[in-house]
Amino acid sequence: MRCDKIGVMKKYITTAIPYLNARPHIGHAMDYLLADVWARHETIGGHEVRMSAGADEHGTKVEQKAREAGVSPQQFVDDLAPTFRVMIAKLNVGVTDYVRTSDPEHARRCQEIWRRLDAAGVIYKSKYQGWYCSGCESFVTETEARAMDYQCPDHQKPLEKVSEENYYLRVSKFTDQIREFVRTAVVPEFRGREILELIKDGAQDVSISRPLEKLAWGVPVPDDDAQVMYVWVDALSNYITALSYPDDDFAADFWPAHVQVVGKDILRFHAIIWPAMLLALGLKLPRTLLAHGFINVDNTKMSKSLGNVVDPIELVEQYGVDAVRYFFLRHIPTFEDGDYTTEKFIAAYNGELANDLGNLVSRLANMIDKYDVPSAWRDSQSRIAAEVAEFHKFMKKFEYHRALETIWTAVQSCNRYIDETKPWALAKTDSAEMAQVLNVLWGDIMIIQALLTPFLPDAAAKIRAVFDGDTVQPAPILFPKVDI
Ligand code: MSP
Repeated sequence: MRCDKIGVMKKYITTAIPYLNARPHIGHAMDYLLADVWARHETIGGHEVRMSAGADEHGTKVEQKAREAGVSPQQFVDDLAPTFRVMIAKLNVGVTDYVRTSDPEHARRCQEIWRRLDAAGVIYKSKYQGWYCSGCESFVTETEARAMDYQCPDHQKPLEKVSEENYYLRVSKFTDQIREFVRTAVVPEFRGREILELIKDGAQDVSISRPLEKLAWGVPVPDDDAQVMYVWVDALSNYITALSYPDDDFAADFWPAHVQVVGKDILRFHAIIWPAMLLALGLKLPRTLLAHGFINVDNTKMSKSLGNVVDPIELVEQYGVDAVRYFFLRHIPTFEDGDYTTEKFIAAYNGELANDLGNLVSRLANMIDKYDVPSAWRDSQSRIAAEVAEFHKFMKKFEYHRALETIWTAVQSCNRYIDETKPWALAKTDSAEMAQVLNVLWGDIMIIQALLTPFLPDAAAKIRAVFDGDTVQPAPILFPKVDI
């Protein structure tokens, strides 16, 4: 990590790369939104930020879907990939680097990564006998398989008994460093503790290849025509191939990542296999591994068969990007599971965005304009200093839903202050007092828009355009109310 100018750091945040086996759903949006808030916040802090995203295009699941669709796997992912990029753009997420794992450049880099792992002595060949979930594209140990009654709880599918010759990654060699990494990097702590429990008897070596006849759609293992890389090795590598590793132009200044954002279901791959790979490559470990919870719909897991999959692109088209960003960042607790329903979404939209924030902006702009208030907001005494301090505390801890909640406490406090001080009455009795009250609010709405910027960049910019001056501009309707 290097500082070019004083205090300016190069910072890198990564997002998990979704499987391209179906259209995007709101669960996929979570990684991007959390990462985007962090990236925008750090950028505002003056740092140079890169954010990676991508698509996980190999593996048996994609192969199977392509077969069902009657097209080649490459065709299948080529058709689907643009939709994922549309989602990212619609969510107003500032991705700077994008990796598709079927890109030949990525494959070439992965093969070099494999060679380096091999040269580091952490790859060996062995017969594998065990349990495999094709949904997770992952092997589980006998103990784990027994604990889940030989059925994957996430995919509700029986585990398959697999017996084959594979390459292995010597993860066990790094148990101590992995434990230390989990203790220091995984956020929230309770998820880290779950991982520590998984490896309490030591981290186990993992199979990192599959025979070609079982998996043809993947990156070939170098110098072995009969084996294909296990999809997770290929996928995890994206975080560094995005920075051109291991080529000469590797952007080493951006590694290690400050933050890697993943969902709770894939934390174990990132907390165990990934650090082992990085340690073997002689690369530093990410500083923070942020695991978020799951979004359910009406308290039920989203699934195609239940027909309850919510499309983030449609949601943005219907309600606007900031409304979508707001709901998922505020009402899905960052570390826990949360619930989406149209009713909850609309209640938050009308109550918190249209009423609380929208009304504050329009009432305040109208009064400042109507009473021709002389501008003194830059010197006014803020009433929301305590909320601002709280906000920064939550931002540091990645508790974004609480950070947003705190902004709303400030918004509501401003609304109450208007109701209590009644500037329209003061205008008749004490215009100096009225001007003072409105300038306090004017200063505070400028603070609120600044805090809102990483979360609702468009709305914040509109608020700024109204208030950032010596007079106010007419306030647009930020969030037109919607019918239930
Ligand atoms: N391809 C792997 C990730 C490889 S990263 C090197 C994968 N793909 S996924 O499509 O299943 O999930 C992509 C991301 O979306 C993961 O972070 C996952 O946790 C997240 N989510 C998928 N469904 C989700 C919800 N319902 N709610 C919140 N996040 C969810 O895993």
